[in-house]
Amino acid sequence: MSFELIIVGGGRMGSALAEGLLSARWCEPGQLAIVERSREQREVLTEGFTGVAVLASLELGHVGPGTGIVLCVKPDHAEGAARLCAAVGVTRLLSVVAGLSTARIEAAFAGPVAVVRSMPNTPVLVRKGVSAIAGGSHVTAGDLDWAESILGAVGTVVRVTEKNIDAVTGLSGSMPAYLFLVVESLIDAGVHQGLSRDVSRQLVIGTFEGSAALLVQTGESPEELRAQVTSPGGTTAAGLRMLEGRAVRAAFLEAVAAAAERSRQLGR
Ligand SMILES: NC(=O)c1ccc[n+]([C@@H]2O[C@H](COP(=O)([O-])OP(=O)(O)OC[C@H]3O[C@@H](n4cnc5c(N)ncnc54)[C@H](OP(=O)(O)O)[C@@H]3O)[C@@H](O)[C@H]2O)c1
Repeated sequence: MSFELIIVGGGRMGSALAEGLLSARWCEPGQLAIVERSREQREVLTEGFTGVAVLASLELGHVGPGTGIVLCVKPDHAEGAARLCAAVGVTRLLSVVAGLSTARIEAAFAGPVAVVRSMPNTPVLVRKGVSAIAGGSHVTAGDLDWAESILGAVGTVVRVTEKNIDAVTGLSGSMPAYLFLVVESLIDAGVHQGLSRDVSRQLVIGTFEGSAALLVQTGESPEELRAQVTSPGGTTAAGLRMLEGRAVRAAFLEAVAAAAERSRQLGR
């Protein structure tokens, strides 16, 4: 029996995608399969995804002319998994594998294959991710629409060229960690000012969520929103002056540059 979509690798990312796709009614459970080599994880998936085929390996009969693959394994396993896809006649593949170029995936196939590479981030686990997609050498507009519809089930999608994927990795790929560091530091700062950790946590996380909603819902720029809370000579101005003096802006520029460069190194 062939499937509409097969997710290869049913770990954190593969499960999040399966959940998003089924919630968005992208396909019926019976049209979706997850190939997962870990027996324990297959048991978890079978329990969690009623009606979805959970398979130990990818076989010839699973792949029909329209079957798409989403490659969701760790980078070390990805080229091996791509070769298995090639052996069963896959012609369209979306990869979420960090650092693996479309050319390297294409090289696993004897003939032309439509490969779309993506860089999602961890908020896809709560269907609030941001993913960038880039097409390989045999990709059509239809293939990009297909990939966008899949990742769109777990958040928003932007299209870039593949040479920008390392920049995306350094920015939105790593950004949840940058922001969690900011949140962590601010919670500590509240404690240093005499607040209990619990109160500080509530204040910081609530403000984080509210500020993100303000940005999204008002459509105003971050500069405008920052100016609105910065009275001349006031408390926020005093705090911001300290942050500028400590070169926080430059630190973020350098952090994204370092992460993007590390992504380039890992891809080589
Ligand atoms: N998690 C994120 O937020 C995130 C963000 C951006 C990109 N990514 C990318 O997403 C990919 C998956 O990450 P993850 O966190 O979901 O990894 P994960 O939790 O380790 O899941 C991968 C699963 O695939 C299985 N597997 C490996 N080779 C297989 C094969 N040939 N056939 C079937 N199953 C196979 C693994 O089994 P074993 O445990 O037995 O190896 C594991 O259960 C990575 O390449 C990563 O770069 C993840």
